[in-house]
Amino acid sequence: MEKTFLMVKPDGVQRNLIGEIVSRFEKKGFQLVGAKLMQIPTELAEEHYGEHKERPFFGELVEFITSGPVFAMVWQGENVIATARHMMGATNPKDAAPGTIRGEYGVIVGKNIIHGSDSSESAEREIGLFFNGEGLVEYKRDV
Ligand code: CMP
Repeated sequence: MEKTFLMVKPDGVQRNLIGEIVSRFEKKGFQLVGAKLMQIPTELAEEHYGEHKERPFFGELVEFITSGPVFAMVWQGENVIATARHMMGATNPKDAAPGTIRGEYGVIVGKNIIHGSDSSESAEREIGLFFNGEGLVEYKRDV
């Protein structure tokens, strides 16, 4: 079953949006297979966002993502990677469609509420980085 890594960023956690965001993915029909509230160490943040290392906003990005607790999650379901990205909306909340998470709750690109893996390679890498094969459950049957 396809899996993706999703994370409510510090702005989403501080604005009490964890429940709202989890609820959206539950109601859509995806299954939560792992979750933890955590403070990201700087080294993990730099590795997670390694592809953006040369960007001018890299320092700001790492500073922000380590500034407070995040809610890291693994979700599974058919086409969950692409569908979750649709549900999140465009990276910049000003371009995110109404009804999407960023379209409803975000204003600026640096504080865009949620992160989601953009490909199966990223999902595998990010799940490994944040969960290291631990704390994920298996569902034996559909209900
Ligand atoms: P995310 O999906 O977590 O992946 C990379 C992040 O970089 C992105 O969300 C944005 O929050 C952030 N980002 C992209 N562009 C900028 C920018 N111009 N200034 C600050 N942060 C940015």
